[in-house]
Amino acid sequence: MNMLEIPTKTHDESRQGEAYTPVGEESVLFSKKFYIESYGCQMNFSDSEIVASILHQEGFGATKHFEEASLILLNTCSIREKAEQTIRKRLTEFRKTKEKKPDLLIGILGCMAERLKAKLLEEEKLVDIVVGPDAYRSLPTLIAEAETGQKAVNVLLSREETYADISPIRIDSNGVTAFVSIMRGCNNMCSFCVVPFTRGRERSRNADSILAEVQDLFNRGFKEVTLLGQNVDSYHWYNESTKTSVNFAELLEKVALISPLLRVRFSTSHPKDITDDVLFTMAKYKNICKYIHLPIQSGNSRILQLMNRTYSREWYLAKVDRIKAIMPDCAISTDIITGFCSETEADHQDTLTAMQYAQYDYAYMFFYSERPGTLAAKRFTDDVPEEVKKRRLQEIIQLQNELSKKSYTNDIGKTFEVLIEGESKKDSTHWKGRNSQNKMLVFPKKNYTYKPGDYVQVYVQDATQATLLGEIIA
Ligand code: SAH
Ligand code: SF4
Ligand code: F3S
Repeated sequence: MNMLEIPTKTHDESRQGEAYTPVGEESVLFSKKFYIESYGCQMNFSDSEIVASILHQEGFGATKHFEEASLILLNTCSIREKAEQTIRKRLTEFRKTKEKKPDLLIGILGCMAERLKAKLLEEEKLVDIVVGPDAYRSLPTLIAEAETGQKAVNVLLSREETYADISPIRIDSNGVTAFVSIMRGCNNMCSFCVVPFTRGRERSRNADSILAEVQDLFNRGFKEVTLLGQNVDSYHWYNESTKTSVNFAELLEKVALISPLLRVRFSTSHPKDITDDVLFTMAKYKNICKYIHLPIQSGNSRILQLMNRTYSREWYLAKVDRIKAIMPDCAISTDIITGFCSETEADHQDTLTAMQYAQYDYAYMFFYSERPGTLAAKRFTDDVPEEVKKRRLQEIIQLQNELSKKSYTNDIGKTFEVLIEGESKKDSTHWKGRNSQNKMLVFPKKNYTYKPGDYVQVYVQDATQATLLGEIIA
């Protein structure tokens, strides 16, 4: 998770709602300019860097100002209805620009493109290009088609595509932390989830290409990588030439061995797949961050079964115990969906007690949003009234706020190694950076000559619900 300064986030205003615009200083060198905004999960953000790379090859430079772009791209998310509404609203804003500039091309990328396919062209008349997550290599062809006035669509999903050979362009980067995509798609069929439909079958990226990309990042001064996948623990790559395979624990170890000065994070773990091997590998290497995002979704076993999560409440909580037994200092965060089909007050209470048990350091919390085509939409009735969903969500958020506060307050008096990521947004006399547990720390620069990318020891003096405040110790 790259959670910046607000660990406890709620439904759609969280990581699935943020727009992100990569920008390159190099854009001045290019005659044509593109503007891209990303919505949704980190996979999408990471994909936008691949798209930027493909467009660079075609002579397009990135711009921060959509008014000067000849190509506007929205990398979209379908996870909840609200995510799609946000994108449709944004499109109506671009309509005005297009009215003034008829040559402007507008493209929809990502999960909404995949879910709605050519229907998007009918529904959103101003859209010229629709490209699914596995079809970005065809962007140059699609742009050329669109330039001749045709509507261009490619939403083919692939069983192989991992964009392994494309070096992502790290635009709008802090130069310290980067995402590295290690797999694509998802083979789980959580009944509420649209991802298996929008992202296709799970496939793992060539381990050698992952290691080469991470090594290159490290050589260029990056100090932290987050290995990304919908379900990283089921990473499995078979090397045809050596007849050997690499699983996630092994990949993690290989990445950690690149340098002790390189931090390694990963996201997301499915509770059913995270193994003791992974936990022991984490414990073995100081530079593998002691932080696991372990989505529970619900604390009630009947609901978990309807969700097709394939674990029970007891099984999940035992996994939490296991993590804490192997790494007592490991932070755990989670995702929770409230108000899933048939959820009763008692089921909801089970979620609250599971949160108490797990003592999450932070959480992403959502109310259930039915997605067309999913198993839940086909089989169950979305029968929890919206006010009830909202009230339950409020209760969950309130409890998590208390848990987060407790977790952060507990850190007062401790000293952490912090990787400086940049200046604090609020105060340029302060640095910000995270500890291994992924908590954000803010501390005065003082007269030290540290810079982003340096590790410092920070003594925590105070805490808010979302940030630790401290001081560098020599
Ligand atoms: N692969 C990740 C999840 C990706 S989606 C994983 O398995 O953990 C991120 C989160 O969005 C999910 O964990 C879930 O909590 C939430 N989510 C997914 N579908 C949803 C829906 N239909 N309504 C509400 N929240 C949903
Ligand atoms: Fe969706 Fe489940 Fe796959 Fe996560 S593991 S992306 S929640 S289907
Ligand atoms: Fe959204 Fe697609 Fe990610 S639906 S959460 S952008 S995989």
